[in-house]
Amino acid sequence: MADDPLFRPLQLKHFTLKNRLGVAPMTRMSAGPDSIPRQDVLDFLVRRARNGAALVYTEALVTDYESAQGYPGQARILNQLQIEAWRPVVQAIRTQGALAVMQMFHCGRMAWPEVNPAHRAIGPSPIAPRQINPLTKAPYPLPEEMSRFDIDHVINGFVETAKGAVAAGFDGIEIHGAHGYLISQFLSPYSNQRSDDYGGSPQRRYRFAHEVIQAVRRVVPNDRLLVFRISNWGIADMDVSLFQNRQEYQEIIALLAEEPLDAISVSTYDFREEAFGTGKTMAALSREACDLPLMICGKIYDRASAEEALQHADIALSGKSMLLNPNWVEEVKSGRKLKPFTSDQAQVAYTTEVLP
Ligand SMILES: Cc1cc2nc3c(=O)[nH]c(=O)nc-3n(C[C@H](O)[C@H](O)[C@H](O)COP(=O)(O)O)c2cc1C
Repeated sequence: MADDPLFRPLQLKHFTLKNRLGVAPMTRMSAGPDSIPRQDVLDFLVRRARNGAALVYTEALVTDYESAQGYPGQARILNQLQIEAWRPVVQAIRTQGALAVMQMFHCGRMAWPEVNPAHRAIGPSPIAPRQINPLTKAPYPLPEEMSRFDIDHVINGFVETAKGAVAAGFDGIEIHGAHGYLISQFLSPYSNQRSDDYGGSPQRRYRFAHEVIQAVRRVVPNDRLLVFRISNWGIADMDVSLFQNRQEYQEIIALLAEEPLDAISVSTYDFREEAFGTGKTMAALSREACDLPLMICGKIYDRASAEEALQHADIALSGKSMLLNPNWVEEVKSGRKLKPFTSDQAQVAYTTEVLP
């Protein structure tokens, strides 16, 4: 097809993406005490690049050794050994003509203190998620309200992790501001009930994200991409919308548009769902509020869904289809009839089974 919307290149700064399909960030929980993922998990990323993805995200890397880790076996890129483990992976992804992007996160109140060296759970406010942690089968702990020291320490973790990714050669770095983890906890009026400069109006709740972005950009050179991931849903307290209404969401997107970011990644359960009763999708609402390149994710599983998703975005990310179907990009290209995978099927990601 001469002008195939999915396989048309995209100019993102000085990078040219060969098509519009990318591997969404996916945690695999495979790392040992050295915080380095299992070799087959690293190889999986390279295989997806070889099989046609234009952009390959890492799993969410944990930003410190204190309170950031929320799941066992998460990875880090904070020391030389970890940098050396990622360097060949990045190189191999680039050799396949794809971009390698590192995602970094702090779990905040979605905490499992025992998997953190310092056994701490922190968050914007002392409000625990209401449900039990599905992995520990126990309630989430009550987080400590972050002090000024904690805020600086956590920002420093994002900065150090970004430095590690730059040293390993990553083309891009993503700040995970979605899914009800720490940054998204600050953005939400539900989990952020602070009375200082970091709580209150949307602008004040945005302050933490702003400080993280600014601090990280200082160590991410201009020849690398900086991306922010956002969502209106969280892992816990699903019934609580992270943003109160369309206006609040678009205010945050407009603030992001003023940052030194190169793209925004919008994460949904289903990109087709309308948001905030507007009759418009999250991607459409995001596009209305900013000019930055947009990535969209959530139930994109075949050619038709990918094409539709790209009506209001520039790059379509897939999680489960990229995870479970090694030939996904080729099959989308061919227009083959495909089905979405379920979350249950994706559980294999957390086992020792080697994915093709
Ligand atoms: C096994 C697995 C692990 C995931 N880990 C992360 C993660 O580390 N960071 C993140 O932002 N999203 C994570 N997600 C969410 C995906 O990036 C994606 O947004 C979600 O799967 C919806 O897209 P899909 O319908 O194409 O699967 C994960 C999803 C799966 C299935």
